[in-house]
Formats: sequence, C-alpha cells, structure tokens
Amino acid sequence: GCDTQISDKLMAWYDRHARDLPWRVPPGSTQMPDPYRIWLSEVMLQQTTVAAVKAYFHRFTERWPTVQALAAARDEDVMAEWAGLGYYARARNLLKCAREVARIGEFPRSREGLQALPGIGPYTSAAIAAIAFEQPETVLDGNVERVMARLFDEHTPLPQAKPILTEYAASLTPQHRPGDHAQAVMDLGATICTPRNPACGICPVMVHCAARVAGTAPALPRKTRK
Ligand code: ADE
Repeated sequence: GCDTQISDKLMAWYDRHARDLPWRVPPGSTQMPDPYRIWLSEVMLQQTTVAAVKAYFHRFTERWPTVQALAAARDEDVMAEWAGLGYYARARNLLKCAREVARIGEFPRSREGLQALPGIGPYTSAAIAAIAFEQPETVLDGNVERVMARLFDEHTPLPQAKPILTEYAASLTPQHRPGDHAQAVMDLGATICTPRNPACGICPVMVHCAARVAGTAPALPRKTRK
C-alpha cells in the first residue's frame, strides 16, 4: 500500500525544490533519464558525497558518453579517472558491468536483472529500476533510513531496524513517479531531514512526522554501538 498523503506532499515539494544534479532529468520533464548516467551516478554516490561526485561524473561522461564507450575503454584509463573516489574494486566492477551491458545490448529494466550485474546490489538495483525505468521499487540508503525512522518514530537501533525501515519506505512508495519519489526522499534527507539539526519547521511532511510530535527527531535513527 501507499500513504498517498505523504507521497503527494513529497512530490509537490520535489517539483519545487529538486536539486539540480547533472544526471537528473528535472521533475515534470517528458525526457526519460539515461540508464547509463543513472547507473554511473549511483555507483559513484555509494561512497562519496553528491558534491564530490559531480566533477567525477562530468569527466567520466565527457570521456565516455555511453555504456558502449565505457565498455571499450582501457582498464588503466578508467582506473586513472576513478583515482580519488576510493574503493578500487568498485571501478573494476564498473568496467565489468559496462562490458556485460554492452554485450547484452542494454541495461536490464527489472531489479532482478540489474542485480545480476557486477557491482550492483540491492540499493543500486532499486535506484536504477525506479529512477531510470519507473518501476515502483523501494530505494533504501542512509538518508531514507533516517527519514523513515523519524516519520514513524522508530527507536529500534540500526542495523536491526533495517527490515522495519524498509517496510515503512515500501509503504510510502507510489505506483506513479516512483523514481521522483525515491529522489524526493533522498533530497529531503540531504537538505531538511539532516542528521544533526533537522529543519522540521520547513519540512513538507512535518504534520505526518511522529518524531516531530515526540521531540525525538534529532536522536533518530538510533544505532547499536559497535
Ligand atoms: N544519493 C544517491 N543517489 C541519489 C539521487 N539519485 N538523488 C539524490 N541523492 C542521492
């Protein structure tokens, strides 16, 4: 099911406040996002902030504008462009994945098909299926976990809370515009529902937020001490 009140408000907010990111298609555009650019950005964003990824994303897409171009690149050229992003196994998987997609001819559209590719796990497969292919998949990253823990005032600590937060996120995922919905939750987490000083006073879904009522938002999500 889907709480349409919350997702409608999030969508209205996203239509006005979506961040302008180089791999994004602006909300309301009839243009479809390019799966290659969505995949590349999501792989890069797994380990680095949006601010740091922008420059790498521009250099990669200037040099290799399509997945076929990246598939034909020399390993050492890709590794050199990746330098500074860290986790070099990711860059190796990136190339393996590009070559596999070039061999198949296109990115698979389903989450299952995507997850069969090198370096694509549950997060990336859901993000690509939702954002590039409008599949109603639920995207769960750190930002989304924080937003869900607060909306539902969930005090179970991470990592135990993960399946519960996944259920909450799924309950909000709409059939219509699931990609924009996923990006709206991520943008909300990045710009308003921030870890330390959440800007609850300007939050588009504040009237639905259980943690705001309880006064617990800044303390959520809880984490088990390692
Ligand atoms: N973080 C990871 N992927 C993102 C996206 N598509 N939009 C905003 N923040 C993100």
